[in-house]
Amino acid sequence: MSVKPELAQDVWKDAGKNVLFTTFELKREDQAKDQEAIQDFVDRYQAIIRSMRIRADGENLRTALGFSNAAWDYLFPDAPKPKELETYNTLKGPKYTMPASKGDIFIHLRADSEAVLYEMMSQIRLFLKDFTTVVDETKGFRYFEGRAIIGFIDGTENPQMEDAADYAIIGDEDSFFENGSYAFAQKWHHNMDIWNHLTTETQEKAVGRKKFSDLELEDEDKFKNAHNVTSQATINGVEQKIVRMNVPYSDPASDNTGTYFIGYARHWTVTKTMLQNMLDQNDYLLSFSDILSGQVYFIPSRPLLDKIADGELN
Ligand code: HEM
Repeated sequence: MSVKPELAQDVWKDAGKNVLFTTFELKREDQAKDQEAIQDFVDRYQAIIRSMRIRADGENLRTALGFSNAAWDYLFPDAPKPKELETYNTLKGPKYTMPASKGDIFIHLRADSEAVLYEMMSQIRLFLKDFTTVVDETKGFRYFEGRAIIGFIDGTENPQMEDAADYAIIGDEDSFFENGSYAFAQKWHHNMDIWNHLTTETQEKAVGRKKFSDLELEDEDKFKNAHNVTSQATINGVEQKIVRMNVPYSDPASDNTGTYFIGYARHWTVTKTMLQNMLDQNDYLLSFSDILSGQVYFIPSRPLLDKIADGELN
């Protein structure tokens, strides 16, 4: 396998300090024009990144741009399709569901300061506004010590930097799409009053780790539906991993607080298995949360973005 992380978009590291998740829908008024507009947009998008890297040197700008299955079929009907790209449909468990939502184009931006995100998305908008509408725009932030908004350190069991690329980036099993990735974006709202009224001990059993020290609990001390139990995925006896970069979002005065989950995977099936396992075992996190959206996007490699910009996929 010949994964080359330098050819991938920023799918394997850095959850970021300030984060912007934006989902667009194509208006679908004129397919030929939309196809042309996308070429132009992707070309501009790459130029905007190059420019921002100079203008905002040292700001740790990280970017990923992806297309849903519906968008892929509409924009590149004659091109090959990533093997695992499908439309995410609502997943169900005995008690809870994880709803699917619409979305064609997804952009995940990260930088040290919010000004960089503002500048970049303002420029992006110029080249998308005529043929898309915005489905959702969520600003996330790094919370103290990289904690999820529920107070626990998030990301400990993520693959470490040296291994992350192998779990996040498509290899030669799908050679045309090598160095691409499958992003799953899912916005959760948490009822923080319910969560904050639980004792620390109950919260720890619910997550499966100690709150302050982040040490993992012994299995017998966790609830059966602890998050770090239900979210595990094993395929053919091998534990699977994805690269998670979820961050909190909040309008605290209006109690609009949650987690924007984003997981990058070499295999979408792995993320999907994790989600279904969480549902099947009634993951504790679901008991105080509403899930507001969910869709999977293919994140092309940078050379494939060049091909899109050059019209080679139309
Ligand atoms: C949106 C609300 C979520 C929150 C607040 C959250 C938070 C956490 C926290 C605090 C941990 C423990 C530390 C760590 O290993 O990172 C964790 C672990 C994990 N989470 Fe989540 N998570 C959320 C959603 C999800 C979803 C939707 C998935 C699946 C696609 C997922 C997959 C995982 C996995 C695989 C682990 C590592 C389990 C292990 O091997 O120990 N999480 N999460």
